[in-house]
Amino acid sequence: MYAEQGRGAYHAYVRRHPFTRLRFAPGREDPYPIYEQIRSRGPFIETPMGNLATVDHAVCKDVLRSRRWGVQPEGQGPPEDFDLSFLDRNPPDHTRLRRLVAPAFSPRRTGGLRAGVDKTVDALLDDVAASGEFDLVAGLAAPLPIAVISDLLGVPDADTAAFSRYGAAIGSALAGIRSLRHAREVMAANRALEQLFLDLFERRRAEPADDLLTEIVAAEAAGEVASAEMVPLCGLLLIAGFETTVNLVGNAVNALLDHPDQWAALVADPGRAGAAVQETLRFDPPVQRTARVSFDDTEVAGTEITRNRWVNVLLGGANRDPAVFADPDVFDIGRTDGVEHLAFSSGIHHCVGRPLAELEATVALVRLAERFPRLRRAGAVRRRNATLIRGPLVLPVAAG
Ligand code: HEM
Repeated sequence: MYAEQGRGAYHAYVRRHPFTRLRFAPGREDPYPIYEQIRSRGPFIETPMGNLATVDHAVCKDVLRSRRWGVQPEGQGPPEDFDLSFLDRNPPDHTRLRRLVAPAFSPRRTGGLRAGVDKTVDALLDDVAASGEFDLVAGLAAPLPIAVISDLLGVPDADTAAFSRYGAAIGSALAGIRSLRHAREVMAANRALEQLFLDLFERRRAEPADDLLTEIVAAEAAGEVASAEMVPLCGLLLIAGFETTVNLVGNAVNALLDHPDQWAALVADPGRAGAAVQETLRFDPPVQRTARVSFDDTEVAGTEITRNRWVNVLLGGANRDPAVFADPDVFDIGRTDGVEHLAFSSGIHHCVGRPLAELEATVALVRLAERFPRLRRAGAVRRRNATLIRGPLVLPVAAG
């Protein structure tokens, strides 16, 4: 990691990080009109930094699914100073590392977590119910994913508060480093998290348990993962599992409160929560973009693309493509387009945590609709200061 490194190294990381290096950042408050400007100019535009960007659903899907595009230029290793494990690697490393954790996120294993998620959601809602008015993010959306991912990994209760703090600090770097002070905070959190994981690996080597940390330690013993790969692997699961799901729950409630008819439809039939989650993922996805680089000279949608050219794949824009979604700007939990949104990306890097994220958000919406059918806003939304990850930082609501 980049512990003990100075400001220069940190700036280098900011430039090289897959999410920040492209720095193509359609508006924070409302990026969707900007995506439409991009769409009106054809399948690709050139960004101010000389990369390409696309909001075309078919083009995004093709690029994400093609084996001739990757997350690093061919033959080049990932940045050593900010290692996002397999998210940031091409095959064969991607395949080997992803295979290690994928079984823990299978629909079957995830389904087994349902009772625990139900209990966590109910306990969180019990706490806020008494107060009448509460912040949906602090009361539900943020603590839920952290509890679930801690449990899955096997982080002891005593460490979850620290785990959550470090995760939030590191996650804040995904949107870019704001100042030297912010850089120092992120580096300190990274060091602390690294130590926490190293201690936990030590404990699991001595005392195996029924959790993912134990499986990772066993894979190390079997020679399937190098010791140096283990902290980034766990770090990825923490950040990817936490920074995204909090915003899915936040964006879902936000959209439902903006569309009272849709909230009423959910209250009338909480069984529609899964559909409401999918429509939120399409309409206002927590991860707005990713990027790929071409391995060859190629041509996509009539555009010549040279080898090693980066493309911003604007997932949030692809999800509003009128070529595949009827009335794309309408939030409708009863949609029948039958087309996959790209909120979880596509191809070999598609989100491994998808079943878990969907489970958490679905349970959250079911229980909110059942327990607080008269849910309404109690103040203005405050958005996070980011364009990669989209969601509310504060979402004041009233239960009754
Ligand atoms: C990958 C979105 C929840 C773990 C991704 C990617 C997206 C995404 C867009 C692919 C990035 C790319 O193609 O470049 C989301 C959203 C979530 C969510 C919107 C919640 C609403 C989770 C959860 C976990 C998780 C709960 C696990 C605890 C991962 C991992 C990858 C990934 C490990 C890397 C996959 C790979 O590179 O093969 N996610 N994610 N995500 N996600 Fe998620």
